[in-house]
Amino acid sequence: MAYWHLHLLADFAQLAEKCVARCGLIAGFSETGDSLTRTFLSNPMRDCHRAISAWMEELGMRVSLDAIGNLHGLYGSGTQPRRLLMGSHLDTVPCAGAYDGVLGVCVALAVVEALRNVSLPFDVEVLGFSEEEGVRFRVPFLGSLATVGCFDPALLDLQDSSGHTVREAIQQFGLDPARIPDAMMDTRAIAYLEFHIEQGPVLDTAGESIAAVRAIAGQSRLEVVFVGRANHAGTTPMELRRDALSGAAEWIMQVEEHAQAVNGLVATVGKMQVSPGGGNIIPGEVRASLDVRHSCDETRTSAVRDMCRVAAQIAFRRGLELSFKEQLNQPAVPMNQHLVDLIEKAILRTGEVPRRMVSGAGHDAMILAKKAPAAMIFIRSIGGISHHPDESVHVEDVEKAIRAGSLVLTDLAVEGVQPA
Ligand code: HGY
Ligand code: MN
Ligand code: MN
Repeated sequence: MAYWHLHLLADFAQLAEKCVARCGLIAGFSETGDSLTRTFLSNPMRDCHRAISAWMEELGMRVSLDAIGNLHGLYGSGTQPRRLLMGSHLDTVPCAGAYDGVLGVCVALAVVEALRNVSLPFDVEVLGFSEEEGVRFRVPFLGSLATVGCFDPALLDLQDSSGHTVREAIQQFGLDPARIPDAMMDTRAIAYLEFHIEQGPVLDTAGESIAAVRAIAGQSRLEVVFVGRANHAGTTPMELRRDALSGAAEWIMQVEEHAQAVNGLVATVGKMQVSPGGGNIIPGEVRASLDVRHSCDETRTSAVRDMCRVAAQIAFRRGLELSFKEQLNQPAVPMNQHLVDLIEKAILRTGEVPRRMVSGAGHDAMILAKKAPAAMIFIRSIGGISHHPDESVHVEDVEKAIRAGSLVLTDLAVEGVQPA
């Protein structure tokens, strides 16, 4: 069948409306009553799986859940010599928006639906990854690491804030940690395509709907611990204090100053645990998170080294002990050039100006890129807002993403994928 008929057959506007409505429904599955938080293998994740599985089954997909909790929908005979993967993550950050991750799964299902009357020369597998944000166990990408066969068994011993391990979380969800190696992706995979909100201001500022991601910035995540001495807030003279929070605060201001001075560098201390945590007690210990990102790995890693050196200088001067724990050192990942070209061509055919951009946010695509040509289509974030309840999208932009994704798949059907 001539693929250009494609846009005559699918009601892309209706598919886009359905995507946005589905994200709203999934946003109701949360661990917290008044906001959206859905972490790795939590109970609300079961509800999320149940809803998405039903949508997958409506499309005639074979649905399965692997041992790390990734949801799979296989469209096609399953016997084709080639398989196209699409997907994104189903977990969220605390106080999340309704689109980060799950919109990518819904758009992938919409692309499959748009192509129902087109016989593709490959099977299509849609994945809903179980863990990308690294919230519950502080290490991201647990789901997609298993998909590419890079899940380190030592990760099973990580503990969450209530002392449960990854292993226990998997077992309590009714899955078998010993089967994680079976979660490895099918060797027939020819490419991985991820749809995701931009989560930043570039498209919104430019007044554009969608874009091709040419690379994903590298990211470092550390836990930095300052230890002083807890003491009475009323009786301890200032010159006799070893205040862990004052030390951390001085360091945080220097982290911000350092990032402001380097073009394209971002650094964030987003989480801090202060103990003992009484208003009338001098803080004895501070556990702070450090998140540093840049599109150039050398710039990022040298910034991390500098920030750690400044922490040591401050700790020394203030008589504090200091320790660091690296939780992630994820290099920047370029997307597959041929796929980016196909995406740009598809964007042009939706009537948009094609833009290539670097993603400041991390995505499962940077993990899938270890094993298959990977690329992403960004969808405008209204106001550039994300990781926030006000996160939102325009239905028209989602429609363009579904249309562009459908064109990429039909081009792949004709051209195949050139390796990186
Ligand atoms: O933090 C990130 O880069 C992504 O949202 N997980
Ligand atoms: Mn996120
Ligand atoms: Mn995301």
